Order: sequence, then structure tokens, then C-alpha cells
Amino acid sequence: MYDFQTDLQQLRERVNAFLEANLTLNSAPAPLADAMRYGVLLGGKRLRPFLTYCTGRMLNAEMASLDYAAAAVEAVHSYSLIHDDLPAMDDDTLRRGQNTCHIEFDEATAILAGDALQSWAFALLCDTPAVSAEQKVRLVQLLAQAAGAQGMCLGQALDLFAEQQALDLAFLERIHHNKTGAMIVCAVEMGLGCSPHFNDSTIGYHLRQFAALIGLAFQVQDDILDITADSATLGKDAGSDLAHDKTTYPKLLGLEGAQAKAQELVREAHCALEQLATLGLDVSAHQALANFVITRGS
Ligand code: IPE
Ligand code: IPE
Ligand code: MG
Ligand code: MG
Ligand code: MG
Repeated sequence: MYDFQTDLQQLRERVNAFLEANLTLNSAPAPLADAMRYGVLLGGKRLRPFLTYCTGRMLNAEMASLDYAAAAVEAVHSYSLIHDDLPAMDDDTLRRGQNTCHIEFDEATAILAGDALQSWAFALLCDTPAVSAEQKVRLVQLLAQAAGAQGMCLGQALDLFAEQQALDLAFLERIHHNKTGAMIVCAVEMGLGCSPHFNDSTIGYHLRQFAALIGLAFQVQDDILDITADSATLGKDAGSDLAHDKTTYPKLLGLEGAQAKAQELVREAHCALEQLATLGLDVSAHQALANFVITRGS
């Protein structure tokens, strides 16, 4: 019987140990190094690394390769959070249960720590062991596309543009697919990219379908938690979306409508997993993660 909580905890500890060991090697002068460590090492659910590990494991990738890919995805995600919290963006003071990076250090250091974490992510991918040169290029390409102007950065730009605007559901879906979905799809694709099946278009197609659906569900749940949970539970500023008049799923659909939407997305994600199961793949970790995305309380 698959035990999701134990698996999640073990893989979280694994990526944390890898990040810790490798950030030490990548030492920069303080305070830049301190801010990088602060932003990436302290807290976080590590759901994206989990997706990279469990996808790669399902497809017989080497765990040693997955360490690099999972850490790279987490480094970019952590950078995106540091910048997301800046005064010029969401202007938040609490992240992962502690001061945001720019409050703990200063704005310039937080900006640079984010920049440096992103560069470090690509350096890590170039060092990925037990994969071919072709696979390394693929990994670099996947992360660059997901993080950049056709992925997370685009989504963040649209999110800021959408503040105080009356936008429709199609526009909001575009924001969420990009700002959050892109990096979640990337996390899954990195697992595939490290595996011997990296060129299998059928597996790739169903994995991307699955990941895009849970990626959107993940951000719908994030929008819901912003209004239903408290800051202590979230470890970040509750009510931040309301304070900035963000366009969110609860704003457009109401709380119950948003909850129903998240459930429908996860139901569809399970259908994508069924397709992978018919190929003989063990999708139990992915099934559990899909359910967790909308049942999580933080
Ligand atoms: C928060 O992501 C930002 C979003 C994309 C919604 P997580 O909820 O995964 O944050 P951590 O990594 O666990 O702190
Ligand atoms: C941020 O979305 C998505 C990122 C790319 C970082 P949010 O602004 O809703 O994330 P939180 O709620 O601050 O974690
Ligand atoms: Mg934001
Ligand atoms: Mg934010
Ligand atoms: Mg949010």
C-alpha cells in the first residue's frame, strides 16, 4: 500500500540535503549567500521536487540524476517566491513561516539572491550525472521555457497587470497556467527528461496533461487558501490577494465555485493518470499528489 505522507517526507528530506550540500559548495560572499540559503533552504512543501522524483522513479530514471533536476526546479521556484514577495510585486512580509527575504535582508539583496538562485539552477542541470548530453540540453531547455517570458515570468507579469481589473475566466486561466502551471509541468517533465523514456511522446503527452491540470488546481487552491486560512497556518500573508485586488478564482466564481472547479480539475487529472496506468506505469504517487493539491491546508 502506497504511503504518500512518508514518501513526501523522505523526498523532501532528500532534496533538502542535496540543496544544503550543494549550496555550501556554491559559496558566495555574505550577505548574498546567506540570502540564497534563507530563500531556498528554510521551509517549503517541496511539491515540485516530489513531482520530479516520483515521475522519474516511475520511469526508471537514476535517483542521482533526479537530485539535480529536482533541486534546479526548487531553486527557480524559490527565486520566484523571493521576487513575488518584493514591494514591487505582492509586497508581502511573511513567507514559509518567517520574514520574506527582502525584510530579513534588504530589497537589493533579495533581488540578487533570486537572480543567483536562478543561475545556479541552470549550472546544476549542466552537471546532472547519469544522463546523456542530449538529455542535459533538454533539461536546460525545459527549465528555461517554463521559467521565462512564455511561462512563469509571463504569468507573473499578467498577474500584476490584472490587479484592479475586471477580467474573465479565460484570462485568469492564462495567468494561472503560466505563473504556476508552467513550473509544475516542468517539474514533471524533468522527471521524464532524466529517464530512458525521455523521447516517448505518448508518455510525455499524458504527463503534461496531468501536470497542467494539477498545476491549475494548485493555484485555484492557493487562491482559496488566501481567503480561508490564516497567516500562521499558511506561513505567508493571508488575504494578500484581497489587499491587492487580484483577479482570483474565488473572486470570479465565488468560494464554492472555485472549490468545485479545483475538484473538477483533479478529477480530470486522474483521467490523464488512467491513460498512463494503461501503459503499465505505477501512478500511485501521482494519484495521491493530485488529491493532496486540493486537500492541503497550507
Ligand atoms: C506558492 O507555492 C506559490 C504558488 C505558485 C502558489 P507553494 O505553495 O508550493 O510554496 P512552498 O514552496 O510550499 O513554500
Ligand atoms: C505566485 O502566486 C506564483 C509564483 C510564480 C511565485 P502567488 O502570488 O499567489 O503566490 P503566493 O500566494 O504569494 O505564495
Ligand atoms: Mg503573486
Ligand atoms: Mg504572492
Ligand atoms: Mg497566492
